[in-house]
Amino acid sequence: MQALQQTYNDKVVRQFSVMTVVWGIVGMLVGVIIAAQLYWPTLGEGIPWLSYGRLRPLHTNAVIFAFGGCALIGTSLYVVQRTCHVRLISDKLAAFVFWGWQLVIVAAAISLPLGYTQGKEYAELEWPIDLLITAVWVAYAVLFIGTIAKRRVKHIYVANWFYAAFIITIALLHIVNNLAIPVGVGKSYPVYSGAVDAMVQWWYGHNAVGFFLTAGFLGMMYYFVPKQAERPVYSYRLSIVHFWALIAVYMWAGPHHLQYTALPDWAQSLGMVFSLILLAPSWGGAINGVMTLSGVWHKLRTDPILKFLIVSISFYMIATFEGPMMSIKTVNSLSHYTDWTVGHVHAGALGWVAMISIGSIYALMPKLLGRKDMYSTKAIDLHFWMHTVGVVLYIVSMWIAGVMQGLMWRATNDDATLTYTFVESLTATYPYYLIRLSGGVLVLSGMVLMAWNVWRTYRVAPAIEPQPLLPVDASEVRA
Ligand code: HEM
Ligand code: HEM
Repeated sequence: MQALQQTYNDKVVRQFSVMTVVWGIVGMLVGVIIAAQLYWPTLGEGIPWLSYGRLRPLHTNAVIFAFGGCALIGTSLYVVQRTCHVRLISDKLAAFVFWGWQLVIVAAAISLPLGYTQGKEYAELEWPIDLLITAVWVAYAVLFIGTIAKRRVKHIYVANWFYAAFIITIALLHIVNNLAIPVGVGKSYPVYSGAVDAMVQWWYGHNAVGFFLTAGFLGMMYYFVPKQAERPVYSYRLSIVHFWALIAVYMWAGPHHLQYTALPDWAQSLGMVFSLILLAPSWGGAINGVMTLSGVWHKLRTDPILKFLIVSISFYMIATFEGPMMSIKTVNSLSHYTDWTVGHVHAGALGWVAMISIGSIYALMPKLLGRKDMYSTKAIDLHFWMHTVGVVLYIVSMWIAGVMQGLMWRATNDDATLTYTFVESLTATYPYYLIRLSGGVLVLSGMVLMAWNVWRTYRVAPAIEPQPLLPVDASEVRA
């Protein structure tokens, strides 16, 4: 037992890392299917569980909570052990978190195609699954924060702050937005109604972006970018300012999802102002990540993992510049309801979230398997290009389609009648849907290549031995 305590629990990290790749393929495959359905609307016609309305939430849940969730939980459990120089507080709890989270995902993958839904975006799952999520999340919080409490070093590295903020905030958001009265096993009604329901939903929705799709991944950035570049973080002081500024500002920006709705006008303006302010901490943090490469820029030429990590930050900068612009009411009056929003989402989701996760898993996998590198570095490089070209095809086509749709919908003739019918705008959009689909196929193929590379790395790995705890410098030891 004592000997076990002297090693890290990497088993749970390996399990989450492998499932990140598996769920990435599943979630993106469903993304490709719905992208195809938008181009060929009769695809799956007559089969209820293949209908667009059921597959779309399956896609968003699979990519965010299954792919993104496994990447976040897996990397956080690795980072917390390595930076606190201590084993996770409980192997049993770690196993519960892993299997519990997989059960949540399977329950979602069955119930959503069957049509069970609360009808709230990103919070579709019905109450029995919500209860299971709560139990797993509390266990995860205890595991992560308990491990920090038991740390052998004085300092809590900044990546852990971001991960902890993600864990605590998601617990809060999940509970508040899912308060509902069950009327059967598969049906419930939210306790909120009308504009209040909308406000709570988008307070949840936006902070799910801020804390699930951003804060946790920034934790990943603060650990894996310096590690891969073999350089300290550019400015540790900036990372602390970045943390507090982001935490203070994000919570207030949610109303930008509800511009020109029944929400009080002052709340809409408040959302806009805070969204504009959010540009500063977002870019501050991103610059901190990119500048970590100062003096070692040449590594980008030879290290495809670093390319994944740094290009992901560039997409983060694109998304966090575009977001504040879209929150400006006059801009939002053009962009809302159009594919511009979808383009923005995937600049963040496919560019930032997916690329930082993929880069981190590539960095992590050999370490977890006792090897220096992945089986094929060339395959990582090919994956990088497939993914990057795929994302660019996706987001550029959606930007053009979105702005075009917005302009066509608002164009009027001299006698105030509409210049274009809705069908005309749809017909004009078709070519862009085909370009988006081709981008999606490229991204998905890259993920399959990654799965092959991970599998081959497993095959050539030596017998996996538990790794001993890293020694702690005398000046760092926690009394
Ligand atoms: C192969 C890759 C992917 C493809 C082809 C794809 C495709 C799509 C399509 C067609 C939609 C529906 C758009 C609409 O309703 O008009 C969508 C929505 C969405 N996807 Fe993806 N996606 C991919 C990857 C991802 C990833 C990796 C994430 C997150 C990490 C993600 C997050 C989302 C979200 C949040 C939405 C909802 C957007 C909104 O409501 O505005 N997607 N995706
Ligand atoms: C400074 C940061 C950001 C701001 C101010 C911002 C702002 C916005 C705005 C104004 C919208 C459009 C709302 C509408 O018209 O319906 C939006 C949608 C969205 N953004 Fe961002 N964004 C930011 C960063 C990000 C990032 C980094 C991601 C992803 C990782 C992201 C994911 C999303 C998603 C998923 C939606 C669609 C929500 C929906 O309608 O389903 N955003 N954002």
